[in-house]
This record gives sequence, C-alpha cells and structure tokens, in this order.
Amino acid sequence: MAKIPPGVGPRFPQVVVLFGATGDLTRRKLLPGLYHLASAGFIPACRIVGVSLDDIDADGFRRVARAALAEYFAREVTDSDWATFAGNLDYVPLAAGPEALKAAVQRAEDSIGRESRRLHYLSVPPSSALSAVRMLAAAGLVERSRIVMEKPFGTDLASAVALNARLHEVFDEQQIFRIDHFLGKEPAQNILAFRFANGLFEPIWNRNFIDHVQIDVPETLGLGRRSAFYEQTGAYRDMVVTHLFQILAFMAMEPPTALESAPISEEKNKVFRSMLPIHPGDVVRGQYTGYRSEDGVDPESENETFIALKCFIDNWRWAGVPFFLRTGKKLAEGQRIISIAFREPPKSMFPAGSGVGAQGPDHLTFDLADASKMSLSFYGKRPGPGMRLDKLSLQFAMHDTGLLGDVLEAYERLILDAMRGDHTLFNTAEGIERLWQLSTSLLEAPPPVRLYEPGSWGPKSIHQLIAPQAWRLPFERAWRRPNGMGG
Ligand code: BG6
Repeated sequence: MAKIPPGVGPRFPQVVVLFGATGDLTRRKLLPGLYHLASAGFIPACRIVGVSLDDIDADGFRRVARAALAEYFAREVTDSDWATFAGNLDYVPLAAGPEALKAAVQRAEDSIGRESRRLHYLSVPPSSALSAVRMLAAAGLVERSRIVMEKPFGTDLASAVALNARLHEVFDEQQIFRIDHFLGKEPAQNILAFRFANGLFEPIWNRNFIDHVQIDVPETLGLGRRSAFYEQTGAYRDMVVTHLFQILAFMAMEPPTALESAPISEEKNKVFRSMLPIHPGDVVRGQYTGYRSEDGVDPESENETFIALKCFIDNWRWAGVPFFLRTGKKLAEGQRIISIAFREPPKSMFPAGSGVGAQGPDHLTFDLADASKMSLSFYGKRPGPGMRLDKLSLQFAMHDTGLLGDVLEAYERLILDAMRGDHTLFNTAEGIERLWQLSTSLLEAPPPVRLYEPGSWGPKSIHQLIAPQAWRLPFERAWRRPNGMGG
C-alpha cells in the first residue's frame, strides 16, 4: 500500500453525512473510496452516517457497504479493517427527519471524542439536492462543515442559478465543493503537468499548429439500475456539460498565475466565457435501440444515450479550431481519450502513394484511464528501398513507472481534497452557470434522437459532423502493452 506523505490528509477527524447512501454512485465509488482512505490511514478518524429513502438500519447499511466492497473495491478487504470500518457506519432513513440526523451526527462526534469536522456528501439527483440542504440546515449541521454537491449541478441555467442562490442562504461559498470526478482523475491533472512543466509543446498549443481536438468518452456500459435517473438527465447533462467540458478547460486554458484554486478556476472560467453557445445544428443525439423498453424509461422517450458535438472557443489561442466531443452508452468500446491533431505540413514532397497523410494527421493522445497513457503519433519511413511512410508512435504508460499502485481513484482524491478544504479541482458557481448558459439553445431545441445499435459507435451522422476529419476511435493500432511487451 502507498506510503502517505505528511499533509495529504485532513488535520481533523471527519464525520461524513452521506445522502444517497444506498445509491449507485455510493456503492460503486464512495463507500469503496472512503473505505480505502480510512483503512490506509489518510483520514485521522472517520465516521459515516448514511441517509437515504430506504427504510433500513445501521446493520442494513453495513450489509450494503460490505456488498459494495465485494463488488467494486479492487484491493483486498481484510477482516480487521472491515470490522473497524463497519463499526464506524451508522444510518438514518430520510423519513426520520432532521432531529434523528442531528442525533446520529452527535453520537458519531462523541465517539471520536476530539475536535472533528463534518463533510456532507450529496450523492443525489439535482431535484433532491435542495431538500437535503434544508434538512442539514434544520438539523443545525452547517457549522464546522463542508458540503460536496454531485453533478449535474442543476439541469439548466435557471435551475443552477436557483440552486446556487438557495445553497448560499445556508452555506458559504468556501464550504461548497461542486464535484466533477473527471478532474480528480490522475491523468486529468497530468494534462496540467504535461502542458506547464515542459517547454516542448506549449509553444505550439494553439490555432497556428493545432487543427482540431477530440474528447472522446465512449462507454460499453448500459444503464443498469440508473435508467430512471438517466431518463431525466441524458448524455449531455450527465457527461458533456460536466466532465467533457471540464477536461476541455484543462486542455485549453491559459497558464494560471499559480497552481492554486483561484488562479486555476479563473483560467477555466475564461475558457468557458470564450466558448461560443452550442449550436443545435452541430450536435448529433442518439439513443440505443432497446432503451425505451428498459425499466423506468418512457416507451416514447426522446432522451439521448449518446451525444456528439462540435464546439468552439473564440479566443486568441483557439479561434476557428473545432473541438469534437463524443460520449454515449452501450458503444463498441470503453475509452476516455483526448486527441490533439496537428496541422498538416503546408506542402508535401512525398510521392503520391507514399502513404503520407493516409492515416490522418500526426497527433498527441492522452488516455484518461487510471492506468493512463500518452502517445505521440507521427509519420516515419518504412525500412527498405524507396520512400514509403508509416504511422509510428512514441508511447508512455503510467504502468511503466511502477507507481500505478499509488494512484488514488478520482473520488478518493477529491474527497480528501474536500476534507482538507482545497477547492483546486472543484467547480465554481460562475463556471457552471456559464456552461448552462452556453447550452440553452441546445436544451431548448434539441435535434431529434437517432437510433443506433448497441455495440456500434453511434448514429451514422457522426461522420458528417467531423468531416473532412475522422474520429480517431476506433484506433487502427492498439496501445502498446505495458513494459514494452509489444502488441
Ligand atoms: C458519471 C456518469 O459521472 O461518470 C456515468 O454519471 C458515467 O454515466 C461515469 O458512466 C464515467 O466515469 P468513469 O470514471 O467510469 O469514466
């Protein structure tokens, strides 16, 4: 297990109040993440009070947590760590009201026996966020606390503005952490390191040298138990206005004046301010066949399970450079890539048929998987007589560093940051409201959904959207396997 450098954890023990305690995200990420942080010693002491609509007790919640670890925790769960963790879990059904919640938090704090802090985690859909905030206020749990708000934050501009206003009636901005877990992914932060710790690429990181950018996050996953939530959300709200735009900001922003929360947020917000509104004609919405017959889905649903779009950042660095974004469920492969295509040379001296340009432009690719990879693809000469060109690549895989075990899962990293009061990787009210504002015309007049077959790459019209370029995925060549094993 990774050694914990001093200063990475919070100073004070934490009482986590977890709304949505039996939900999908809690089981997949939050309970496994909290278990890891607690058992690896990142948090001095931790108590968790689960809250949800389910009428269960603390033992029922322990069973939920144990099953979640069995299914989703990638490392070993030891009996003694589990016993300690289970002893620190408590549960309050939503129906029991604020007094019961207050009492449970009080018990948790008493059991710690020294000064502690509260972390309220709202893993609930946008429509339930305010009632959770009101319950916290009624229970008198605002002091000494921070609150993590899950995405999507609102469902459009008006609801995000209203949510921010109501939230500010109860919590100060300093207490609020609007989470987007893509920013907690190790490779997302590596974009900042790559761009600003090196002199190599930054001089060409602009419209003079870059032809277009792709941010492509296809998923093989279907919706499982999430259909009802997703039916109110769709791929745009679930993934684009959140994760994909945040990644776009890291990729496109100017160098911040310091590696700190306010300067980084300022540069991201400048990107969002410079973005042109999303034009419905630049958007392809898709729905996989079979979605309409899933539980909780309207048989005539027009909700999208896939989206691809073109957008522009109208500033000095990026004017005229298209950014192509794509994501969807039940697609052919699961990938999370950013691919930056460089402009072709102005004139080619290579003979027709040499293969130059035949496999698309030279490009830089970031893979945002936890075991992240990066590659630079370029044309080089095929050995032998004449001049035939092949696409070659330089690749880096995090695997090769031997440090993969030190990677904190995105939610773990962000929960720890929120407990420490560090806003660097969180979103601001201004940034989120601007993104909803950019989305207004699309949300008001979305193009019709087109059906696609599960296991495909989405509706056919995605090719017209990007023409004369092409989607980089599926890759023609697989990533090389780690440790130079070929492939
Ligand atoms: C979540 C979305 O925020 O991100 C899911 O709600 C999506 O629909 C998930 O599957 C993808 O996250 P990751 O970390 O698995 O790439």
